[in-house]
Amino acid sequence: MAVQVAGSINVDLIQTVEALPRPGETVLAHRSVRLPGGKGANQAVAAARAGAATHMIGATGSDEAGQWMRERLAAEGIGTQGIATLAGEPTGTACIAVDRTGENQIIVSPGANAGLMPARVRPFGHDTRVLLAQLEVPAATVHAFLAAPAAQGTVRILNAAPALPEASSLFGLTDVLIVNQHELALYLGLPDAPANVEAALAARRLIACPDQVVIVTLGAQGAVAVRAGSHCHAPALPVVPVDTIGAGDCFAGALAARIDAGESVEEALPFANAAAAFCTQGQGAIPAIPHRPAVEEALKNAPDRGKPR
Ligand code: RIB
Repeated sequence: MAVQVAGSINVDLIQTVEALPRPGETVLAHRSVRLPGGKGANQAVAAARAGAATHMIGATGSDEAGQWMRERLAAEGIGTQGIATLAGEPTGTACIAVDRTGENQIIVSPGANAGLMPARVRPFGHDTRVLLAQLEVPAATVHAFLAAPAAQGTVRILNAAPALPEASSLFGLTDVLIVNQHELALYLGLPDAPANVEAALAARRLIACPDQVVIVTLGAQGAVAVRAGSHCHAPALPVVPVDTIGAGDCFAGALAARIDAGESVEEALPFANAAAAFCTQGQGAIPAIPHRPAVEEALKNAPDRGKPR
């Protein structure tokens, strides 16, 4: 079977700083690196490294950055026929500052991602079992992707990030919705982000159809899958993060791969949690995304961690 990802492709310009700049402040970086990224590309790489046959729908510019990104994705074995090259548009760029604690600020310049129109959404590969999207490409395109006719049993996953209030109209098109605690607060209009599993059960209010599941990622507290009449919490593997760039994307891509392999959402949670924990151990998004054997080994060595409760 296969995972099909529709989403953004960016070049990440990462600056490591002592402390994040306040409004009006200029700070000097210790160092700068250019790494592959974008929520869509990160999720596609996470699915591929977790073992899924993966196809990507996206857009880059006809610039050097676009060619670099297409080559990087193809080198992962990802099907790139669905990636459009838009003449005259720059490839998406994310300017990311990371402080000494791993906290970050991200500004995304969408470039070609904003030109990914609904008409470009077509099935690539005949064996797709899982559709996976996020919100760094136009909402109308995500709608076309999730609403397209698909084989019975296809699982539609939306990682509703970055948080866009108008995107809540897409939630009813999904089988699995993934948000972090800050996105959950925004979608529910809560004053504060839910800080623990009990508070995250408020995600039940997002459920739009009976069999839907909402996953809330809670950083060091792992993730909770919330259904209408039950919930399942998987604690995180304990790590000291280098940075958290792309960790949520890694979670979503790894989860999609395990569902593609036939697991339920609840069965897939520990693997996705562990993959995301790995991703925080290296700099940036794509370079830090783990391959399946490393994640399986980590889970074997921590039998009581990452297990759903
Ligand atoms: O989620 C992390 C990603 O967000 C980065 O790779 C950056 O490109 C932005 O899209």
